[in-house]
Amino acid sequence: MILITGGAGYIGSHTNKALHNAGYDTVVVDNLCKGYENFVKWGNFENYDFGSKDVSEVFEKYDIDGVIHFGAFSSVAESVEFPQKYFKNNYKNTLNLLQVMREYGVDKFILSSTAAVYGNPEHVPITEDQDLKPINPYGHSKFITEKALQREADKGDFNYVSLRYFNAAGCDFDGEIGELHDPETHLIPLILDAAIGKRESISIFGTDYDTPDGTCIRDYIHVNDLADAHVKAYEYLCKENESNIFNLGNGEGYSVREVIDMCKKVTGRDFEVKMDDRREGDPAILIADSTKIREKLGWVPQYDLEQIVESAWKWHERMNVI
Ligand code: UFG
Repeated sequence: MILITGGAGYIGSHTNKALHNAGYDTVVVDNLCKGYENFVKWGNFENYDFGSKDVSEVFEKYDIDGVIHFGAFSSVAESVEFPQKYFKNNYKNTLNLLQVMREYGVDKFILSSTAAVYGNPEHVPITEDQDLKPINPYGHSKFITEKALQREADKGDFNYVSLRYFNAAGCDFDGEIGELHDPETHLIPLILDAAIGKRESISIFGTDYDTPDGTCIRDYIHVNDLADAHVKAYEYLCKENESNIFNLGNGEGYSVREVIDMCKKVTGRDFEVKMDDRREGDPAILIADSTKIREKLGWVPQYDLEQIVESAWKWHERMNVI
């Protein structure tokens, strides 16, 4: 049985589905502070806070073999405003989960980490061996969590994989689950809100970055490709007695303007685009070099930006009809 924290959230629910399709039993642990119970369509569900000692009851009830830990706050902008909230939930509460795991002899752990651990990278595409210099509290909270996991692995009888996500986007092609944040801060759903008429316009945060069109460049990766990487990472932990860290991105960078243009193309709708100030904590360019996970785990991303936007649009239209 695999325990999935945050499995009622966006990436966690897609991974729960992928694990189910690969034949695994799962139990989702989520306190629903961000997630949705109706996103848990596969496996078991337990409403617990992974930062509470009570979570041990889940380890009592189920025979847990490994933990995939999505539960975290993940907004760069919010982390700049409320750093303590991020260090407490993303770091301190993860230590609680680790302690309970160790008490129950659970030795496999997958962390949702982030490209935000790199800060402003020395070179792009970014390889895993670059210096980690996070420029926002969110990235910093994941950076120190990775360090804690490394120390735990050094002690023995414990292995982890840290997956450093670049920009997760897109939705389940069957439309069973999707991206739903409250408040929404991510670029693609906000653009689609403008396309569907829920917002009057989309604002570009910063047009004076050192990039070809002056807007930030990101590496957008389909959530199903991320989910597949978790299945492969779990299989790796079952087979190999070692820990590892992998980037997860497509290796293609798109500027904010290019993403807006793609959304206009896919939706066939036009909407107002406003120029705004930079958002604090945003690095100019984040593009992954994912060679390591391709070579080590045989992971190959399947979807490009157009397919990402198409799947997100399908979900968006569905959500706004119901
Ligand atoms: N942006 C806008 N206007 C908006 C919203 C976003 O211009 O209304 C810009 C941002 O400034 C940024 C880009 O679009 O340049 C992407 O922003 P998102 O908020 O969608 O995503 P982030 O790059 O800030 O962060 C995401 C995840 C983080 C993760 C990071 C890693 O939310 O958890 O990717 O690359 F750390």
